[in-house]
Amino acid sequence: MIVLGIETSCDETAAAVVNGEGEILSNVVLSQIEAHAPYGGIVPEIAARAHLDHVDAIVARAMAEAGVDWGDLTGVAATAGPGLIGGVLVGIMTGKAIAFTRGLPFAAVNHLEGHALTARLTAPAGDDLAFPYLLLLVSGGHCQLLSVEGVGRYRRLGTTIDDALGEAFDKTAKMLGLGYPGGPAVERLAAMGDADRFSMPRPMKGRPGCDFSFSGLKTKVRQTIEALPHGPLQERDAADIAAAFQTAAADTVADRTAHAIATFKADHADADVLVVAGGVAANTALRERLSRVASDHGMRLVAPPPALCTDNAAMIAWAGIERLRLGLEDGLDFKARPRWPLDPEAPKRAFAGAKA
Ligand code: KG4
Ligand code: ZN
Repeated sequence: MIVLGIETSCDETAAAVVNGEGEILSNVVLSQIEAHAPYGGIVPEIAARAHLDHVDAIVARAMAEAGVDWGDLTGVAATAGPGLIGGVLVGIMTGKAIAFTRGLPFAAVNHLEGHALTARLTAPAGDDLAFPYLLLLVSGGHCQLLSVEGVGRYRRLGTTIDDALGEAFDKTAKMLGLGYPGGPAVERLAAMGDADRFSMPRPMKGRPGCDFSFSGLKTKVRQTIEALPHGPLQERDAADIAAAFQTAAADTVADRTAHAIATFKADHADADVLVVAGGVAANTALRERLSRVASDHGMRLVAPPPALCTDNAAMIAWAGIERLRLGLEDGLDFKARPRWPLDPEAPKRAFAGAKA
């Protein structure tokens, strides 16, 4: 099986070719960071136009780097949501056009399912990472804990009631004058800071359930900056705030994840894998904290390599392979879905399925 994957739901135009053995034959990601940087965040209309300008060349490059021909493909997968609708439309139409002209099966992939199944793509040979596993999905638009029971089968245990974790990182970065995207910049600065100098809240910590909240933490970052002597923010102060923020965020996530482990284990006593995925899973401090939580509860943490945690098309191609293998082919009339929660039964929350 050889599948071409296309990802255009946010600010990366990406295409990749992956085979059924989980080998990534090519993985091309064109970031639009520079186009959005002057605005301090993603501008949907700019994103959609940039996807349109570049998607054909990126697909051609992914095919060339993989050394495959159209005739070698067994399927085409494209992100069909959730995400910024203009971008999603560009990717899904490109995928459908290729599938139609080459007579190939088409998989309309939920971007979140791409993140959720990446750990099965990157698992080393001999470790097939069987279902079920517990998933912490932390990205710019999502912060969810899910029981992954199978392809297309998810049960949401918790989600954010306000900001996503990546969003909290990005907003903190903006307040610290670090530019966009903020997560990696906050992490770099935090490494030089003293996490104990400023106290930060741990929202929801100790509360029943597995939901998250980050708006109070964000407010505290703002108040801490405002309480400093006026004038340009000193690097020492910024580093200490970044460190305090990151530690508080990791602490909160660890607490919520511990609750989710208890809920998950009640249904799946023998399951022992916690997977972390999504852009914020690239954060080393968070990974270390989660690794401890997992081992404290007799579980192991599985985290894909950072480059496959942030948005890419290899995860979309792989989700396509998982779906097509099960005969889950989609029609060319499949409509793009700006909102598309993984667990349709879960109660609606502000950010559930908003973007990835
Ligand atoms: O999954 P993703 O690439 O894109 C979407 O959200 O669709 O996640 C991007 C998010 C951004 O908020 C970015 O700041 C955050 O992931 N991020 C990080 C790190 N790398 C990316 N946050 C904290 N530490 C990092 N090293
Ligand atoms: Zn994503």
